[in-house]
Amino acid sequence: MDISQKKRTLLKVIVLGDSGVGKTSLMNQYVYRKFSQHYKATIGADFVTKELQLDDKLVTLQIWDTAGQERFNSLGAAFYRGADCCVLVYDVNTKKTFDTLNNWHDEFIKQADLNDDEAFPFVLLGNKVDVDGGNSRRVTEKKAREWCASRGNLPYFETSAKEGYNVEEAFLYVAKITSENE
Ligand code: GTP
Ligand code: MG
Repeated sequence: MDISQKKRTLLKVIVLGDSGVGKTSLMNQYVYRKFSQHYKATIGADFVTKELQLDDKLVTLQIWDTAGQERFNSLGAAFYRGADCCVLVYDVNTKKTFDTLNNWHDEFIKQADLNDDEAFPFVLLGNKVDVDGGNSRRVTEKKAREWCASRGNLPYFETSAKEGYNVEEAFLYVAKITSENE
């Protein structure tokens, strides 16, 4: 089949989570295969795109990076409406970033004005698993999976934006589950 005849789909993915958990780093690793130790807080929101071929579908992931420092609703409900997937990120070495997942999840559901919360694709990423060879870890994989189960069986990936571990896999999964809904 000629490429121009293939179905093209634009998928809007929103990445949320506390400041410093590695949202920007995960996206930079996924899209540019780059990592920087240097922390520069995201201001407002910005997106990157990545084109993927999934079977006979051409998919453009439009991945929106947001600022963990700002109040969730500072972007406004209009920003969240039309989202196809929400990726929640926490840092496995910082318990507080795990405890706030409830807020991020609840707020997204509220603001995005979803037709069906239970069917909407959320994915959880536990980032920075590389730190100190895992010795600084404050949230176990079991705890994270329990939270996912309590929130309607969300899929879970452990990642390292620094090492590129599981990053490609996680976003590929996001693209797959999101494009299935189109
Ligand atoms: P905000 O923009 O403030 O919401 O933060 P963010 O979630 O975008 O975090 P960012 O990607 O800027 O990363 C914060 C810091 O953590 C930076 O210094 C990164 O280099 C570092 N970092 C991010 N991911 C990893 C990781 O997987 N492993 C390690 N060791 N450091 C990471
Ligand atoms: Mg950022």
